[in-house]
Amino acid sequence: MKILGIMGSPHPKGFCYQFTDSFLKGAASKGAEVKQLQLIKHNIKYCRGCYKCVHNNQELPIGICPLKDDMAGILQEYHQADGYIMATPVYDFTVTAVMKTFIERRFALYFKNKSEPGIPAARVKHNYKKKASIIVTGSASDDYAPIAEPCYEVIGGHFMIEEIEVVDQCYIGSVHNLDEEHYGAKLDETFSLGVRLVEEIEKARQEDE
Ligand SMILES: Cc1cc2nc3c(=O)[nH]c(=O)nc-3n(C[C@H](O)[C@H](O)[C@H](O)COP(=O)(O)O)c2cc1C
Repeated sequence: MKILGIMGSPHPKGFCYQFTDSFLKGAASKGAEVKQLQLIKHNIKYCRGCYKCVHNNQELPIGICPLKDDMAGILQEYHQADGYIMATPVYDFTVTAVMKTFIERRFALYFKNKSEPGIPAARVKHNYKKKASIIVTGSASDDYAPIAEPCYEVIGGHFMIEEIEVVDQCYIGSVHNLDEEHYGAKLDETFSLGVRLVEEIEKARQEDE
């Protein structure tokens, strides 16, 4: 089983990275093959809204974007994974620009006939056999955890369309001011969420047998 971490902090070794790493260690402890993709280290251009990826090649699981950058390879990895941890810091009440740029380029995972009205549909639906979790870090304390809601919506909207169940959403507040005890507790919590994601995917697979 492959679990892909998609990490949207511009800070490569920051808190968001550390909690994503802990989550993936939890998933690996259950036998999953894990990888953390740090979006900031990749060349991901802005979506130009040309709709070429969405309107063409319906037979493909991933549409073809005319932009030449790292996204085609990233979407291949995304397509091949069984589960996801998507993590972002809160920046100005929502996901970082790094994460948003990636999310917009996921448009290639959708298809729509040009002549028909409405929004594009997922090229591949996963019938909730694939699962995901979301981690959000922020300066606001845990008392203000609802500050993460817009991040959950922006990230979770695509999972909804692709029929990927979001198992857990976790906000880690006061991230720059956690003492050793609380920092350790959050590492333990994110590790457990990684374990849980793998268990939930296994459970969904067993239901099919
Ligand atoms: C430009 C910017 C905007 C931010 N906006 C918010 C915010 O709206 N709410 C909040 O709680 N924290 C905010 N923060 C704090 C970040 O969420 C925090 O620095 C981040 O979660 C730490 O993760 P990192 O170590 O991976 O960078 C902001 C930080 C920056 C740099």
